[in-house]
Amino acid sequence: MKEIKSDNYSIWLGENSLSKLDISGYSKVAILVDKNTKRNCLPKLPQLENSIIIEIKSGEEYKTINTCNFIWKQLTAHHFDRNSLLINLGGGVIGDMGGFAASTYKRGIDFIQVPTTLLAMVDASVGGKLAIDFNGLKNQVGLYSNPELVIINPIFLQTLAEEELKSGFAEVVKHALITDKNLWKELTSTAFDKLNWEAIILTSIQIKNKIVLSDPFEKGNRKKLNFGHTFGHAIESYYLEKGTPVLHGEAVLMGILLEVEISLVSQEQNNEIKNYILSNFSLPFTPKKSDLLPFLMNDKKNKVGKINFTLLTNIGSCSVDNLFSTDEL
Ligand SMILES: NC(=O)c1ccc[n+]([C@@H]2O[C@H](COP(=O)([O-])OP(=O)(O)OC[C@H]3O[C@@H](n4cnc5c(N)ncnc54)[C@H](O)[C@@H]3O)[C@@H](O)[C@H]2O)c1
Repeated sequence: MKEIKSDNYSIWLGENSLSKLDISGYSKVAILVDKNTKRNCLPKLPQLENSIIIEIKSGEEYKTINTCNFIWKQLTAHHFDRNSLLINLGGGVIGDMGGFAASTYKRGIDFIQVPTTLLAMVDASVGGKLAIDFNGLKNQVGLYSNPELVIINPIFLQTLAEEELKSGFAEVVKHALITDKNLWKELTSTAFDKLNWEAIILTSIQIKNKIVLSDPFEKGNRKKLNFGHTFGHAIESYYLEKGTPVLHGEAVLMGILLEVEISLVSQEQNNEIKNYILSNFSLPFTPKKSDLLPFLMNDKKNKVGKINFTLLTNIGSCSVDNLFSTDEL
């Protein structure tokens, strides 16, 4: 089992990591699940005495204030006081929304992230960003708040659908492209089904954790993590509004392809990235840039009316705060 130290909490990774789930000292404990994590992941958790289960509907379309209402009502109905704990057992939706609900309930109760998708393991569970969607806009309302612990056990990946695994893999690809040429070489030279997940998860978390520790509130360095996400979030919002949501990772990969086009990488590197993505992932149709502009103009990172991109300068390095007017796109 590996321990990765983050801000004021630890991330435990490995087959025995669930042994770190310590609920002693809490007056009440709730486990937040959805239908899939209740069926596939809850049986793998150790028995937690006196805990209650809060089950919500699965999917991004339920990452809303209405679902938070339901969670807060359950906590209130079961008399959860400020010394209570919420364990978020699920993907990024459960982690983001459960963390948000916990951090605002009675001005904040403790929460533990037990990510069960690859995306949540390598990305969403690390870094303290919590949010819900609002009015069709992704992560429009939220806050920064750290969990007590993050517990990552790759065993949960066994029941994850292949498309979800690939969706999470998009963030691994991003981590390699923005900071780690060696990881990129490993990814591009190993068949997807031959990858060593525990090793990939460890490297990926270390990359994210190092960046987050250097800049917890996204004033500079943390913006590196936004590579692929400016177009990616616009694409995600576009499909959400149409009522046909795409997976976060699919949107990020489409975003990476669009943002590589405006990056400073050589044509050869551009082709290398494109070929790798297009031959390993089958992606939905990429919307026209003009259809994405309304969403880009609402992006939280915009500055003085310009769209803010993190762009590659090479494979393994990037620059932040590249501003483009809508005409320049
Ligand atoms: N906070 C952050 O820094 C951050 C970073 C990246 C993404 N996110 C957020 O993460 C969310 C996406 O997360 P996601 O891709 O994990 O999606 P998700 O949480 O919707 O999970 C995907 C699907 O997999 C199911 N599932 C989860 N674990 C399973 C398992 N072990 N076996 C079988 N089924 C399982 C879920 O029920 C769901 O249907 C987005 O809302 C995104 O904004 C947050």
